[in-house]
Amino acid sequence: MHIKVLGSAAGGGFPQWNCNGTMSARVRAGEAGLAPRTQSSLMVSADATHWVLLNASPDLRQQINDTPQLWPAKTAGLRSSPIEAVILTNGDVDHIIGLINLREGQAFKLYASDRVMTTLNANSVFNVLNSDHVERRPLAMDQDIAIEGASGQTGITIHAFDVPGKVALYLEDASKGENFGTQAGDTIGLKITDINTGKAFYYIPGCATVDAPLAKRLQGADLVFFDGTLFTDTEMIDQGLSHKSGKRMGHMSMSGPEGSMAAFEKLDVKRRVYVHINNSNPALDDNSPERTEVTNAGWEVSFDGMEITL
Ligand code: MLT
Ligand code: MN
Repeated sequence: MHIKVLGSAAGGGFPQWNCNGTMSARVRAGEAGLAPRTQSSLMVSADATHWVLLNASPDLRQQINDTPQLWPAKTAGLRSSPIEAVILTNGDVDHIIGLINLREGQAFKLYASDRVMTTLNANSVFNVLNSDHVERRPLAMDQDIAIEGASGQTGITIHAFDVPGKVALYLEDASKGENFGTQAGDTIGLKITDINTGKAFYYIPGCATVDAPLAKRLQGADLVFFDGTLFTDTEMIDQGLSHKSGKRMGHMSMSGPEGSMAAFEKLDVKRRVYVHINNSNPALDDNSPERTEVTNAGWEVSFDGMEITL
């Protein structure tokens, strides 16, 4: 199974267009050890020819242009794309807006939880994905689903499951109390399996906590891509960028007793890779003490274009 990180940053990307915070300013200045990153998405394929996108970021057009595997095959007709299907893990802007780049009458299949599909269905701008070409398929939770693409079976199965998280920012309902009206299906994780080889990995770009069911699920996994939004819960507040903590945004941090490095310590996951990394996160700097801490804990920090074969 072939996996490529299209975009390793969280919402806003790195640098973020309107951000003059230390990290964004440094990457904009071209400082060594800091690489620009686009917004959150992976691509996966069983045969390195037919690809499934995991999330569709606002930077998808640039990501396709930077990724020859996603160009129309030279021998193909006038309209063609190796993108067979798209699977969404939540309704966040950084994960759905790239769908708009996939208009122009191209056929593919779109999979999302009922909650996220309801949001897409309620927003008429997504009707640019003509239903004659783009079939919307509800992604049932806790089932193995063989992913069919525009030209047939992809050889990939998806097992989707609910994870602790928060409803998309633009859907928050303050009247609903502490969880802003979050329901099951608002934030999901995926287990992606190559049907032929049986190899599997997990993709969880947003997660508020590793609870007991999630820990059990991930125990012994070969590879997990996990929420790397923040290094510390209050870093956006500390850097003067926002009044929000990671907890308020539905993201657990890398560090600290409640962080992901601690949560994974006993899970025996062979390869742990952070994705969805916010532009405030000091671990984005290859030469930072935070990066050293992350590396020493056995984690990798993903970058755009990172490829893994399982
Ligand atoms: C998130 O991951 O928390 C969201 O993408 C934030 C946002 O909508 O900007
Ligand atoms: Mn996000």
